[in-house]
Amino acid sequence: MPSTNASRSPAGNFELTPLANRYLSLLSDTLRNRFYREPPESPLSGPELERARNAIEAVVREFAEESERLRSVPAITAEEMSLRALLVDPDEAIIAGFFRANSPTAYTVLDAEALENLKDCIVSVLRDNVPGDLMECGVFRGGAAIYMRGVLAALEVEDRKVWLADSFQGLPQPERLLDSVVHAYLKAIGSFIVGFYEVMAACSAFDLLDDKMEFLPGWFDDTLPGLSHPLAVLRCDGDWYGSTLTILESLYDQVSPGGFVIIDDYNPVFGAYQAVNEFRAQKDIQAPIIPVAGNVHYWRKDYVEEPKPG
Ligand SMILES: C[S@@+](CC[C@H](N)C(=O)[O-])C[C@H]1O[C@@H](n2cnc3c(N)ncnc32)[C@H](O)[C@@H]1O
Repeated sequence: MPSTNASRSPAGNFELTPLANRYLSLLSDTLRNRFYREPPESPLSGPELERARNAIEAVVREFAEESERLRSVPAITAEEMSLRALLVDPDEAIIAGFFRANSPTAYTVLDAEALENLKDCIVSVLRDNVPGDLMECGVFRGGAAIYMRGVLAALEVEDRKVWLADSFQGLPQPERLLDSVVHAYLKAIGSFIVGFYEVMAACSAFDLLDDKMEFLPGWFDDTLPGLSHPLAVLRCDGDWYGSTLTILESLYDQVSPGGFVIIDDYNPVFGAYQAVNEFRAQKDIQAPIIPVAGNVHYWRKDYVEEPKPG
């Protein structure tokens, strides 16, 4: 039967029709709660600034010793500079903006550009016939994973799954000081705690809960090592150093050549940044790491472009 939403050339080209693109655009808008939410660029409100002020006071108090020590030494590394920005000269507006970005009344904290890029990555692996499933490590309310399933549905792809790996009980206690400080701030907005059934209900609300959605509940350390399954798109959204390293160490080898590795938190303020840099150095990964929007970056693994005919 001919496909209605996607046209596939014999060479395996996947084209989203205008109607499929409109579905995905509406899906993205709805998952981001674009219609009911304060526009991200709108001025910060008094209560938002007050919440940030209170959080700063509490965090600086909790890490009083470290704040004192940081005051007396010059910041040299990216980690030390981030720590200073969070403990020594924290900026109320920056913290309030961080809270706004990470606690939306939405199914995902990703923005439109990040979802658009995710769509492009999925279409590329389909077009280039890169084997494997799609995986979201760090699910929160499920939005990005729901979007991935939506892209497969829009293209009527039946032979790939979306994996959702999460504790479904929020972020673990981090190992590193920097992540611990970020964690202390995140406690003010709930530490991303969303239960398994809530995420399933979200997938079902979008009519995208089926046997192509594979849930992996538990801590990454327990669920990811030993998972042997080819992946075409791997989203790493675990924020912390340890969580990100576990994702990469457990799953990078499963990513097929030509597959995408997307890092959501590639910013020195998150331990994920250091984990990615260390991992790439250790594996001698030369593929450039490409910025998308905000902290989202990606690289394409071992990609060799096929020569164009003629
Ligand atoms: C920033 S949120 C993910 C946002 C999400 N991708 C979205 O679309 O909005 C980070 C998620 O990672 C999960 N997480 C972080 N480290 C983890 C670990 N070591 N094991 C299991 N889940 C972890 C948390 O439970 C949380 O849901």
